[in-house]
Amino acid sequence: MFPNQRPRRLRSHPQLRRMVRETVLTTSDLVYPLFAVPGEGIAKEVSSMPGVFQLSVDKIVEEAKEVYDLGIPAIILFGIPADKDADATGAWHDHGIVQKAAAAVKQAVPDLLVIADTCLCEYTAHGHCGYLQVGDLSGRVLNDPTLELLKKTAVSQAQAGADIIAPSGMMDGFVQAVRAGLDAAGFEDTPIMSYAAKYASAYYGPFRDAADSAPQFGDRRTYQMDPGNGREAIKEIELDIAEGADMLMVKPALAYMDIIWRVKEATNLPVAAYNVSGEYAMVKAAALNGWIDEQRVVMETLTGFKRAGADMILTYHAKAAARWLSA
Ligand code: PBG
Ligand code: ZN
Repeated sequence: MFPNQRPRRLRSHPQLRRMVRETVLTTSDLVYPLFAVPGEGIAKEVSSMPGVFQLSVDKIVEEAKEVYDLGIPAIILFGIPADKDADATGAWHDHGIVQKAAAAVKQAVPDLLVIADTCLCEYTAHGHCGYLQVGDLSGRVLNDPTLELLKKTAVSQAQAGADIIAPSGMMDGFVQAVRAGLDAAGFEDTPIMSYAAKYASAYYGPFRDAADSAPQFGDRRTYQMDPGNGREAIKEIELDIAEGADMLMVKPALAYMDIIWRVKEATNLPVAAYNVSGEYAMVKAAALNGWIDEQRVVMETLTGFKRAGADMILTYHAKAAARWLSA
């Protein structure tokens, strides 16, 4: 031991620990995901995500008020349409469920930011994120025809009041198509938060229960990224930056902390981490069994994302974390 080197000196008192803490999570870092369903008075708990509900628009508005009162700056909306079809009509229709929810939230809570997740898997009958060749059972989504639908979807979301568009389908040229569509429709100032590095992950399982968006056949490995790839994430973010992304997301978060770090190092744009459904489900399951201390595990995990480089964290724990932060 070097007698003059005693790192424990700075750990000796809670106030001192507070003073030298490098990373501090705040409520401003959080984004809360919400799932909109048709109907009224509906709040249906997702069985694999305790504390997360599919909500009708009236309930989404109540929830939005609560989220805003907790000091959380933004929600991200997902929609479960009444009907699914080959053209994902529910995604881009003016009366689509996300369009309705976005408009209602902006009317009731204008200062809460609404992020619209832009993808098609919740709206296609086969559950893939775009058009398939007729008869194709592999799930190899047709890239360029899908871009047209996605562009339409983003514009209708912006028209409904969405403040930020979040392209999440991992199609090539997605950001550029959405940027062009938004600009042509007069939404030059609407930012794009791109799901730039989105991996083909088993951690999305509970989300697919919540959003009713599991592919009916095949998987998403021809468009989402292979979990073994790190350099490819940098390639994806470089392309998205060139195409006009304003913010970049890494998803999932826990098994991809190194990617959050590398993306942060590679760009000056704000970086978001998506603490996905399976990550939430694992914590909830263990907490409900009394196996872990939920509050401490959640706060440690969210702080870890921030330390890794995340400026924003999309998380189903957002409301709980905001309460703990203000206690
Ligand atoms: C849609 C989309 C997915 C998630 C967000 N947007 C899932 C998927 O690719 O099936 C996952 C979010 C989560 O697991 O919490 N493409
Ligand atoms: Zn999708």
